[in-house]
Amino acid sequence: MSETAKLELQGKTFELPVIEGTEQEKAIDINDLRAQTGYITLDSGYKNTGATVSNITFLDGETGILRYRGYPIEQLAERSDFQEVAYLLIYGELPTKTQLENFSENIKLHTLIHEDMRRFYSAFPTFAHPMGVVSSVTCALSSFYPESLNPHRGEVKINLTMTRLLAKFPTIAAWAYKNSIGHPVIYPKNKLGYVENFLNMMFSMPTEEYELDPVVVNALDKLLILHADHEQNCSTSTVRLAGSSQANLYSSIAAGVTALWGPLHGGANQEVIEMLDKIKDDGGSVDKWVEKAKDKNDSFRLMGFGHRVYKNFDPRAKIIKKACDDVLNRLGIKDPILEIAKKLEEVALHDEYFIERKLYPNVDFYSGIIYRAMGIPKDMFTVLFAVGRLPGWIAQWNEMRLNKEPIGRPRQIYVGPKVRDYINIADR
Ligand code: CMC
Repeated sequence: MSETAKLELQGKTFELPVIEGTEQEKAIDINDLRAQTGYITLDSGYKNTGATVSNITFLDGETGILRYRGYPIEQLAERSDFQEVAYLLIYGELPTKTQLENFSENIKLHTLIHEDMRRFYSAFPTFAHPMGVVSSVTCALSSFYPESLNPHRGEVKINLTMTRLLAKFPTIAAWAYKNSIGHPVIYPKNKLGYVENFLNMMFSMPTEEYELDPVVVNALDKLLILHADHEQNCSTSTVRLAGSSQANLYSSIAAGVTALWGPLHGGANQEVIEMLDKIKDDGGSVDKWVEKAKDKNDSFRLMGFGHRVYKNFDPRAKIIKKACDDVLNRLGIKDPILEIAKKLEEVALHDEYFIERKLYPNVDFYSGIIYRAMGIPKDMFTVLFAVGRLPGWIAQWNEMRLNKEPIGRPRQIYVGPKVRDYINIADR
């Protein structure tokens, strides 16, 4: 007999079905709870709420497991490449050689963005944070491809929209950087691979060719793989929620970019470097900062530490820490903040406060040090996270659509004033 959960309310017993995933995760299915009992559940921050069933990414925070479509992240980071991982996430299986070639060729057909969109960039101030620019321009794609507004336009056309977005997003991102430094934008070069093309648009200049360094290309490719999906995190849930109203893909992803921007989510990678720089400028001793992070009266947190789901270690951070050493060694860069980061990790991991709360370095702790070694400026770090997360967002949006999930609409417990009569302004 299948397992059920019993709920007692006001002397009545209600039976709720239990569902189990392929990795033995269990959930009490409360789809009919309100209809049966009149009650709702309350779960601030959705700490215990499964918003969907998904077959894209499996994550076990207790044992530090992360798998895309069943493939361990360690194997993908070591042996795959970003474009193949994008295909895997979106279409569910590793591609054959021909499928991958077609996928890559199709992306290349759409890397340019409309010339009228180029003019948007000059309307943004150069000091604009690139995440705001990327979100705006991504959303604006929906006005250049109005057919994307029709959620029932058929699989071939929806596939074209997904391909367009994968193709144009690196261009949109790199142009946000070029605009921020007042340089002319660099057009995509389709003879280059996905990651090479992005780096070229970031660093090439009309006056000077950019020489692609395979160490940098490989490191960025690996970082993008590690960021490519992470099941129902804040930005992905935002993409699915926006998409559940049948909002088009471009605007749903723009919403995801905005959610990613916050310092508790993707914005942490920029904050980590700013924190490490501050510690360096302050003399390099980490003890004071660890104490500040523990002080309840101080809003300071150790950025790049802690995770809602990982309570043992973040498998992505493990891979990135090693990559960080490799990249800096191979590029011959000595960055004093790497030593500070290692010291901080060492002290925090032996401190009772961090042990008790299961706070470990997360994906953002070391990634910024690699980005910096590649010459990527701080306020582009979160944009890089978005470039990596894009295939995951697209896969999740598409799964939500194919599952025909209902519009996302949480409820609430109202605790405001009871009904009262309107008072004319003269009488207040
Ligand atoms: N430094 C100091 N204390 C912390 C930290 C930190 N980085 N993170 C959590 N805590 C404490 C927190 O004060 C609380 O203590 P207490 O129980 O005494 O009130 C306890 O640990 C639990 O924290 P929480 O905020 O309730 O945990 P959460 O699951 O809601 O938040 C988090 C997770 C990632 C937002 C949080 O750990 C954090 O703010 N970390 C720093 C920002 C960061 O690095 N974010 C990137 C996350 S990984 C990239 C991504 O996928 O988004």
